[in-house]
Amino acid sequence: MSEINVLDLFRLDGRVALVTGGSTGLGRSIALGLAQAGATTILCARHFDSCEEAAADIASQTGRQSFAVAADVTREEDVARLMETAMEKCGQVDVLVNNAGVNIRHPIEEFSLEEWRTVVDVNLTGTWLCCRAAAPIMKRQGKGSVINMGSALSGIGLADRSPYCSAKTAVLGLTRTLALEWAASGVRCNAICPGPFLTEMNRPLLEQPEKAQALVRQTALNRWAEMHEIRGAALFLASDASSYVTGASLFVDGGWTAG
Ligand SMILES: NC(=O)c1ccc[n+]([C@@H]2O[C@H](COP(=O)([O-])OP(=O)(O)OC[C@H]3O[C@@H](n4cnc5c(N)ncnc54)[C@H](OP(=O)(O)O)[C@@H]3O)[C@@H](O)[C@H]2O)c1
Repeated sequence: MSEINVLDLFRLDGRVALVTGGSTGLGRSIALGLAQAGATTILCARHFDSCEEAAADIASQTGRQSFAVAADVTREEDVARLMETAMEKCGQVDVLVNNAGVNIRHPIEEFSLEEWRTVVDVNLTGTWLCCRAAAPIMKRQGKGSVINMGSALSGIGLADRSPYCSAKTAVLGLTRTLALEWAASGVRCNAICPGPFLTEMNRPLLEQPEKAQALVRQTALNRWAEMHEIRGAALFLASDASSYVTGASLFVDGGWTAG
């Protein structure tokens, strides 16, 4: 057996990681973690200013290059431009984290079709569009790791979130399918399924503290996750530490779905 130091497998020196929705929340935390491990990062979001601020902060904290690109993952032309920009600036894309997501919460009869489409478009179609655009690049490289953001709600339902639960469940089907499609090309595809993190997306829950507490009590660990607690899973799946892992869904949910 060759003497591989397991810690070396987690290094991302010389790799390029593109994180959608990287301006804030989980995407920003993941991008920082990947940069800490040595990666050059490219962050995308619809609003350029917050993305640029996040990229500057990551670069100053890690000494690694970080680029900001304004792109809406639901727009085919934006996604094409995003990949072109990544290739122009860095010449490769080794890791793609499809993290951009939105949630809208109502009972089903209060949902408009437009709201359904918004949630499904960003969480599912945006992920599919980015996977499609990254596929030829990663196949040409003969290597790549795609990480799709599911949710604990990919594994269980939760009332008032019909488009979100539907889209996040479908993300796991997409992940498994692409794992099979890409395996022979050396490209891996996995999902991370987070439990409750107190990001902007979950800020509205705090308006009803009892409901928020009830939600958190459903996790075995009985607490909100800390923002850094997503990074270990992301680094594992992004790096060679997970070289024999594809088609998997890694639940980082405090044991919510264990019950
Ligand atoms: N927070 C949680 O507890 C939790 C739990 C399970 C899963 N997740 C998943 O984790 C991911 C990140 O969630 P978060 O809580 O960190 O959310 P967040 O803080 O609301 O951040 C969402 C990010 O996505 C970007 N974004 C939204 N729509 C976009 C679009 N159409 N194109 C490109 N970027 C877009 C936002 O920037 P712009 O507005 O500038 O575009 C922002 O950077 C999502 O997929 C979410 O479903 C979160």
